[in-house]
Amino acid sequence: MISDATVPVTITGLGAYAPDRILDNAELERLVDTSNDWIIERTGIRERRIAADTQALTDLALPGCEAALAQAGLTGKDIDLLIVATVTPDMSFPSSAVMLADKLGAVDAAAYDLSAGCTGFMYALVQAYGMLASGLATRALVVGGDVLSRILDWNDRSTVVLFGDGAGAVVLERSEQPGFLALDLGADGSGGESLWLPGSGSRLFDEADKHVKMNGREVFKFATRILVQSAGDVLARAGFTIDDVDVYIPHQANVRIIDHATNKLGIASDRVVINVDRYGNTSSGSIPLALAEAQADGRLRPGNLVLMTGMGAGLTWGSALMRWTLSG
Ligand code: ACO
Repeated sequence: MISDATVPVTITGLGAYAPDRILDNAELERLVDTSNDWIIERTGIRERRIAADTQALTDLALPGCEAALAQAGLTGKDIDLLIVATVTPDMSFPSSAVMLADKLGAVDAAAYDLSAGCTGFMYALVQAYGMLASGLATRALVVGGDVLSRILDWNDRSTVVLFGDGAGAVVLERSEQPGFLALDLGADGSGGESLWLPGSGSRLFDEADKHVKMNGREVFKFATRILVQSAGDVLARAGFTIDDVDVYIPHQANVRIIDHATNKLGIASDRVVINVDRYGNTSSGSIPLALAEAQADGRLRPGNLVLMTGMGAGLTWGSALMRWTLSG
């Protein structure tokens, strides 16, 4: 689906958190048959953050939620919708959203988890937009995060080098001036077998292997195509071209994928936010972590045209084009 965002809704708060523990490529060289040179050349990733044994998804998500609420000048009590996008919730149920709502004092919030692979944050963002635009909700907290280190096979060199842990959150509210301008979400289940987690649900519940499986080449082909296609679709829908974009935030999967999309789209590299070199692919945490970093270093300024595109397991994708309205 692709849609104009005709009702003014914007981001009024933003926060993110990644665990302290850094796992660099040198340490990975000691774990599996790989090399720093291979990882840098094929992925651009130098290091990633790994959650402590005591940290689950809600522990990673809470600091970003608190920061986002503080920036919006709100408390948990003000939130009436809380969506958590993740494929690594604390447990299947109760949802991580209700746990976070409890920790934040969001006693009036509808709270639920959403699963769309690495695109989860974009799905949650669009869904919250729809709830606010329709009047079903007034203030939403949208959380994206994952603890992918828990579902990796640490003997599989083809996946452990790619992923890391992290989470972030945004507050969405109705606004005077439009924030969101156009939104795109999509899914192609025929590509599901390119990235999947056996033993994680009711089909293969007794499966001993509960680790991520990936056909890297297929995901790579999909990613390079869809980042360009989805970005082009939202730009065309809102009547802009890539030259109008001030800040481009692609899903942080791999520097090669980002470079490919950047070249195809024809956007200058100084407008592209990249932090995958330091965090790896944090799945649903990727875009909010990159947003928070761009805000912290002053790249996100009111009036900027911001383009975000996520893609991931499903296969799924999602883009949002917005006029940034938040100072800070
Ligand atoms: N270290 C050293 N060698 C490796 C490693 C490693 N970590 N991993 C694979 N290799 C080897 C392979 O075994 C292969 O060896 P062979 O030629 O002897 O068979 C060789 O390197 C080349 O392997 P390819 O898979 O062809 O390498 P490619 O250039 O495609 O890079 C990569 C692999 C980095 C995984 C790339 O395909 C990619 O980034 N794909 C996208 C992955 C992705 O983004 N997934 C997440 C999506 S979002 C979500 O929802 C989670």
